[in-house]
Amino acid sequence: AQLNDLAVRAGLKYFGTALGEGSINSDSQYAAILSDKSMFGQLVPENGQKWDATEPSRGQFTYTQGDITANTARRNGQGMRCHTLVWYSQLPNWVNSGSWTRQTLQSVIETHISNVMGHYKGQCYAWDVVNEAINDDGTWRPSPFYNTFQTDYFAIAFNAAKRADPAAKLYYNDYNLEYNQAKTDRAVELVKIVQAAGAPIDGVGLQAHLIVGSTPSRSNLATVLRRFTALGVEVAYTELDIRHSSLPASSSALATQGNDYANVVGSCLDVAGCVGVTVWGFTDKYSWIPQTFPGTGAALIYDSNFNKKPAWTSVSSVL
Ligand code: XIL
Repeated sequence: AQLNDLAVRAGLKYFGTALGEGSINSDSQYAAILSDKSMFGQLVPENGQKWDATEPSRGQFTYTQGDITANTARRNGQGMRCHTLVWYSQLPNWVNSGSWTRQTLQSVIETHISNVMGHYKGQCYAWDVVNEAINDDGTWRPSPFYNTFQTDYFAIAFNAAKRADPAAKLYYNDYNLEYNQAKTDRAVELVKIVQAAGAPIDGVGLQAHLIVGSTPSRSNLATVLRRFTALGVEVAYTELDIRHSSLPASSSALATQGNDYANVVGSCLDVAGCVGVTVWGFTDKYSWIPQTFPGTGAALIYDSNFNKKPAWTSVSSVL
């Protein structure tokens, strides 16, 4: 059986993947695997719903890129996770270099959220409302939002999201939460800040951009997930990939990668509030990793010729 079918049988809501908007229409092998609902029950647009794609100039909304994923998911009977609304990166210049008062930036955030979420209303199982608000050392990350509001923008964003699509699960999403260090502590605090403000937050997304051989154990990962579910929110792995730090990967490194993948997926099975796993792409042919972390890669579950890797088999065995 394929991974989404196995995941659902094991009690998860989905096993999903990011959809690369540049690949889907140019590569039929890519499209065939991605479109198989028994393999991927849920799709996330890799870039198409980000602020620079959806509102490149103020008040001008374009959905061409994001609709690629929405249309593909609808055609195939797949669900969608939606990504992302308030993030420091892939922001258009008009937001990034504007000089904002609290009042105008609040209205900019609310307009952005009501339009973009309104366009996809009813189609998103979940939305990453706020993405990557915390630095790796646990301090708050500077951005036009933080610089204007300090932490008050979280509640502004989550409240606006609830009004725009009351049925969508509203998530905070970040990377390196898996290591249970200062950044994880701060993310716990973020959830509490939103809750104390009386704003709705339903989930925490752990991106899980991990490294072969340095991935935490299944039980340590489960401990992190439980720190969040103890606050009354659900959790999910939202952007899973596990990169090799030296290439080409040896067969023993590929086996270690498989073991790491199984630990991540297994930890989700171990925690009642963990709803699903999304990989950040599925084939090493198209992955953001080599560009962002030069010299590393081969982080996904299919190789660049669309062969299933040991990681694919390990995931299928743990499910
Ligand atoms: C990445 C995409 O994969 C790339 O194509 C793009 O150039 C940069 O963004 N955290 C996130 C994702 O929340 O949106 C990022 O996606 C990867 C890190």
